[in-house]
Amino acid sequence: MKFKKKILCIGAGYVGAPSMAMIAYKCPDYRVTVVDINHERIDAWNSSQLPVYEPGLERIVKETRGKNLFFSKDIANQIKDNDIIFVSVNTPTKTYGAGADMAADLQYWEKTARQILKYSQSSKIVIEKSTLPVKTALAMEKILSSAKGRIKFEVLSNPEFMAEGTAINDLENPDRVLIGSHETKSGLKARRELMGIYARWIPLKKIITSNLWSSELSKLVANAFLAQRVSSINSISALCEKTEADITEVARAVGMDSRIGNKFLKAGIGFGGSCFKKDILNLVYLCSYYGLKDVASYWESVVKINQYQQERFIANILNNMFGTLAGKKICVLGFAFKADTSDTRESPAIYISQQLLAEHAEIIISDPRALKNAAMELSGIEGNIKYVEDTYRAAAGCHALVILTDWDLYRRLDFRKIYRSMVKPAFLFDGRNIIDHKKCFSIGFNVYPIGKKALTHL
Ligand code: NAD
Ligand code: UGA
Repeated sequence: MKFKKKILCIGAGYVGAPSMAMIAYKCPDYRVTVVDINHERIDAWNSSQLPVYEPGLERIVKETRGKNLFFSKDIANQIKDNDIIFVSVNTPTKTYGAGADMAADLQYWEKTARQILKYSQSSKIVIEKSTLPVKTALAMEKILSSAKGRIKFEVLSNPEFMAEGTAINDLENPDRVLIGSHETKSGLKARRELMGIYARWIPLKKIITSNLWSSELSKLVANAFLAQRVSSINSISALCEKTEADITEVARAVGMDSRIGNKFLKAGIGFGGSCFKKDILNLVYLCSYYGLKDVASYWESVVKINQYQQERFIANILNNMFGTLAGKKICVLGFAFKADTSDTRESPAIYISQQLLAEHAEIIISDPRALKNAAMELSGIEGNIKYVEDTYRAAAGCHALVILTDWDLYRRLDFRKIYRSMVKPAFLFDGRNIIDHKKCFSIGFNVYPIGKKALTHL
């Protein structure tokens, strides 16, 4: 079959593969190829066991794979062969040298730019899909413009706003698609080309355009605002616990103001995931770099409150379990950083588990999707850790349940049965405020929610 467009994505991760699967699904006349240096990942995308759990993803991959969606290891030939290249490689926080623990590590990004330069034999549109510091496109352009001869590269910014767990719906019905470009003739032409792809399924009024730098910065700012809401509500949850106000009631009252809105006001153990912390730190670094110290410290406080919330949660467990966890069995319910994903990157469960182990507790971790990743996150950490998928078996014989992920299945557990199997007095720390606290209290648990009065028999 002759395809109308040939699209490549470099980076077959949580963003690259699902977003390209959506393009392939919506545009059967386009050929979409995804490449990665990680060959195991490519093999997994070509297998029946996809490397990423995301509701609805398997269906669209199965429908398109081998027809107009391809996963390949041959980066050189794919670069040569495609005219439109999305770059969705990882951009983690730098762990060394200047800007360590703050700035984005752009080594993968730069390697990709050099690969594109090396293997291209014709002009191409290169699209930043990774989240990047503002002005990264400039560096990309400088590398690419060292091409000799007639080959020209036009760099666009097209940040991705999908969230894990709801990625397929977010990709199918996004709030907006943002395309940043230069306002030059070739920049506008490339922008129209990319708009044409999204316009296949997204209403034009939702496809917005801006200059390159606004687009890069908007992505960092969107994540910073979302994380800020989580830290704001979490900071107030601490005050609720001191004053007998109830965080759910406060969030409802505040969120009904249409200017504030009711989303992202769930108090818990803090935000996790691969991006919020990294992107805010990146913003903090940028502000410091440009000499905006006060702005930098304003945004840094969002990350500090997130850490504070996790420390508070651990202290609460320790204080209420008579000041010692040594030798006690704690059942950790949920390790993914949020429900409906197997992703455990930066999950609050990592820090909380480490602290429980540091107190010499024995931990039994249960999660419906993330146990493999949990074991990877905690590999090399000393202590007594067991991984048990079945919640009832995991909880049996434990002194406490600690809910760390908002999996729906935890709302529907038979807590009476669980209570019977536990050591008494039985403790329940609900780090996500997802279960019926009064009911669990009446069963016999000592219940400790977030930002609400504890219900205890002690
Ligand atoms: P990821 O680590 O899951 O995937 C990145 C992939 O890029 C990896 O498989 C890696 O092997 C590959 N890679 C790195 N260098 C390469 C190279 N030179 N050539 C080919 N492949 C290479 O990361 P992710 O979660 O998909 O995130 C990618 C980017 O998207 C990041 O900048 C992130 O901030 C941003 N983002 C992520 C999400 C999310 O929900 N995870 C949402 C929006 C934006
Ligand atoms: C987030 C953004 O929502 C996406 O728009 C963005 O594209 C993405 O980051 C990214 O750039 O990587 P994601 O991290 O997948 O998506 O998930 P969120 O739903 O934003 O949740 C992030 C964390 O905040 C989770 O740990 C979640 O449990 C926590 N959270 C969220 C709360 O504690 N309370 C809330 O009210 C909302």
